[in-house]
Amino acid sequence: MNPTTGTAVSALGLRKAYGPGGEKVVLDGVDLTIPEGTVFALLGPNGAGKTTTVQILSTLIEADGGEAQVAGHDLATDADGIRAAIGVTGQFAAVDNLLTAEENLMLMADLQHLDRTEGRRRGARLLERFDLAEAARKPVSTFSGGMRRKLDLAMTLVGDPRVIFLDEPTTGLDPRSRRTMWEIIRGLVADQGVTIFLTTQYLEEADQLADRIAVLDHGTIVAEGTAEELKRRMPGGHIRLRFADAAQLEAAAGLFASVGRDDEELTLHIPSDGGIPTLRAVLDILDDSGISAESLTVHTPDLDDVFLALTGNRENPENPDSRKVNAR
Ligand SMILES: Nc1ncnc2c1ncn2[C@@H]1O[C@H](COP(=O)(O)OP(=O)(O)OP(=O)(O)O)[C@@H](O)[C@H]1O
Ligand SMILES: [Mg+2]
Repeated sequence: MNPTTGTAVSALGLRKAYGPGGEKVVLDGVDLTIPEGTVFALLGPNGAGKTTTVQILSTLIEADGGEAQVAGHDLATDADGIRAAIGVTGQFAAVDNLLTAEENLMLMADLQHLDRTEGRRRGARLLERFDLAEAARKPVSTFSGGMRRKLDLAMTLVGDPRVIFLDEPTTGLDPRSRRTMWEIIRGLVADQGVTIFLTTQYLEEADQLADRIAVLDHGTIVAEGTAEELKRRMPGGHIRLRFADAAQLEAAAGLFASVGRDDEELTLHIPSDGGIPTLRAVLDILDDSGISAESLTVHTPDLDDVFLALTGNRENPENPDSRKVNAR
């Protein structure tokens, strides 16, 4: 892998708004820095502005404000340079259903101005690599969603891009296909040292793949860091103990310093990082006091917690009074 010397993507104050007066603010000053040869995940719920960010950085749409450099080229002055250096796999597959997998790849090779032999060679190699060789001559209309996604990514790779944008690469895939896609993405970074910018709604996906994660909400980055750093910031991880009766609950509640308690459910919620040492400590404390819980569940922070924690105090975006005017 290349040493991560340079910066693959940087953005400062990206803004985008829609509507006649620009009153629907979609990106409200987004800053990003992504080192070369790393995986960056932009995590956010529906409508957060993920696709808009990808579209701006990949030159598909123009920002209203801010600046960005991608693969060493300036967005404002050298969009062509960016286009030549990147690959984009959109949220919705760009494959042509009427063509075969092979023909789709050849089409991409033509668009990249590769000569026929080189195009054919790259296409065959990609089909092999993505386990699509057997299906190479079948029309894409007969492909499953997972195959389509793989072909879509293969098409992105025909041009040998240095920076690859993947907009929700695994949404709608089953767990096995998702894992295959993760392996492919990891391989791209490990073998070719490319930089990956991906968007996702799944914390687990960001956790699995990304060196750094930024959480986007209502067009603003509300948190940024490694998966570990973000998870540490997420409240919501807890051990949930259920007891047989109120007396046991009462006795157990006295044993732990900070607990949440639900008397009707006969449960205690003990804050926890989800780690085994904490779990063991809780069980030991109960054991030592001769109290047994009826059931125990470990709740680790998930995307719901992330968004509840990070966006709980925000104004309602649907409330017109809270809409910000685009500062252009
Ligand atoms: N051409 C457009 N005109 C008006 N509004 C738009 C346009 N494109 C996007 N938007 C709005 O911008 C907001 C952000 O959209 P975007 O597609 O970037 O979100 P996203 O984070 O990719 O969401 P998803 O997870 O659903 O793909 C949404 O409220 C969307 O309705
Ligand atoms: Mg999107």
